[in-house]
Amino acid sequence: MCGIVGYVGSEPCARLLYEGLQRLEYRGYDSAGLAVHDGTEIHVLRAAGKIERLGRALAERPLPGTTGIGHTRWATHGRPNETNAHPHRVDGVALVHNGIIENHVELRRRLTAAGARIQSETDTELVAHLVAERMRGGLDLLAAVRAALAELRGAYALAVLARGEPGRIVVAKSGSPLVVGLAGDAAVCASDVPALLPWTRDVLALEDGEMAVLERASLRVYGPDGRAVDRPLRRIDWSPVMAEKAGFKHFMLKEIFEQPRAIEDTLRGRLDRAAGDVHGDEIGLDPALAQSVERVHLVACGTSHHAAMLGRWYIERLARVAANVELASEFRGRDPVVGPRDLVVAVSQSGETIDTLVAAREARERGAAVLGVVNVVDSAIARMADATFYTHAGPEIGVASTKCFTTQIVALLLFAIWLGRRRGTLPAARAAELVEGLARLPAQVHETLRATRQLVANLARRHADARDVLFLGRGPSYPVALEGALKLKEISYVHAEGYAAGEMKHGPIALVDASVPVFVVAPRDASYERVMSNLEEARARDGRVVAIVTEGDEAAARRCEAVVEVPACAEELSPVLTVLPLQLFAYFVADHKGTDVDQPRNLAKTVTVE
Ligand code: G6P
Repeated sequence: MCGIVGYVGSEPCARLLYEGLQRLEYRGYDSAGLAVHDGTEIHVLRAAGKIERLGRALAERPLPGTTGIGHTRWATHGRPNETNAHPHRVDGVALVHNGIIENHVELRRRLTAAGARIQSETDTELVAHLVAERMRGGLDLLAAVRAALAELRGAYALAVLARGEPGRIVVAKSGSPLVVGLAGDAAVCASDVPALLPWTRDVLALEDGEMAVLERASLRVYGPDGRAVDRPLRRIDWSPVMAEKAGFKHFMLKEIFEQPRAIEDTLRGRLDRAAGDVHGDEIGLDPALAQSVERVHLVACGTSHHAAMLGRWYIERLARVAANVELASEFRGRDPVVGPRDLVVAVSQSGETIDTLVAAREARERGAAVLGVVNVVDSAIARMADATFYTHAGPEIGVASTKCFTTQIVALLLFAIWLGRRRGTLPAARAAELVEGLARLPAQVHETLRATRQLVANLARRHADARDVLFLGRGPSYPVALEGALKLKEISYVHAEGYAAGEMKHGPIALVDASVPVFVVAPRDASYERVMSNLEEARARDGRVVAIVTEGDEAAARRCEAVVEVPACAEELSPVLTVLPLQLFAYFVADHKGTDVDQPRNLAKTVTVE
């Protein structure tokens, strides 16, 4: 997500911080800012857009001082403009934050009632108000930050300055990464190692619940109980390029492994576990619409279209509304029947894909309501839609989408649960089961990635020379099969077909012989027996069958060349797990072939041409 840097030492630091932020640019951001303490006052400089704008502003207005913090923001709450950019300053407190504060609605209400004048739309500014409030009450910066944290729910990495305490930065971490280090007589901090590398290779990654005080030549770390802890620095031997990728060889692999965190962020603040329901505030759709909507059209392109196919399945199954899903480019071209009783759900990670944007806009002109399911805040679709449900996956750098896909699936399921509960079609007990299943999902994703990585890497080596690969699935596993094939095509340039398993005998079976790997997505669900029959059909033609199955499925293991197991879960959740080995397979085949994994030929991350 966003980037943080901090410096306290003997050098003028504004330029140093700016250069630190430049080293975090690869992560994606939409505004940037600095706060520097000159010994008497804190000066703040912020700019929307590219970091060079901040650089130009800094050239015109140098910020003197040897203590400061900087930030690149990737918007999650509030538009990417200067007012929402960090640092946020309230009274004598300046603060930068990465993460998402779950209880921001309550906090805003409480602070407003207490007379706070809140300037921005961000959750971050609220934290600055909380710290300022405690400092006005007489606490020092460290104690004030600690007291403010007690009011927060959610994820954060924070770096804070106070006017009355020059030469000091207080940092805290829970859920979002933060590293601190010593560089000569300076103490430094950052959200990511690359920002620190030119300054020092001796760093310490804070643990959740820890805080630290940075002063010139001094670094003190405090545990969750407030007591000082002695934590040794660790020497980082990554190259700067490796560091950008957090030690992973490619951004795509890093993003595959970021999925547990990304899904946690999608779920953050949205599950009501006590009520077995989904909080609807953020969806922003009128609950009356939930009752009155007669038809849902999901429109999307590429990977997002596969997520949208699952969205249709969820909406029909849980909310009993007729739903259709269509490639945006086809939908807009065929003069579809849409009107005021329809809801159009536009699914797009970038929020800028022209076909999806135009399809949704045209439907809106005909009176339909539009819900965007989007990753990039304030993108074109988000601005056009009546309501937007953000996926909060964080920036995705690899062109082939991975974490954006699984978070789209999760967001669409959350929406369908919300809709089903409001329409009375989804029984409370079933909703509660799904909510609990979602809460367990990040851990299951983590476990699946851990347990299958090596196995899938071996499979990829074995099959890397295949000319054609088939992917089959039924029901919720059909979009997964399509996505498995798309991933492989996109990055390894191997011809791959995703097919509904039931359709195999109507064509693709003619392709199957001993040279064709056939991936069958077969978790234990309502289609299981029928998928097994399709698996046998491929086997009978000497196909080299690899099945993605629920753990403990020995019958499948006996029938296939290889099986990859995923944990048991509700049928609705299985696509999030079964797609993981297919993402890894595509990645390892491409890596084996030596293709440009993160920027495959001919493809673009954001497609703004028709
Ligand atoms: C491009 C990207 C794909 C993405 C598709 C739709 O083709 O390479 O990864 O799935 O666009 O993009 P969107 O931003 O609308 O999800």
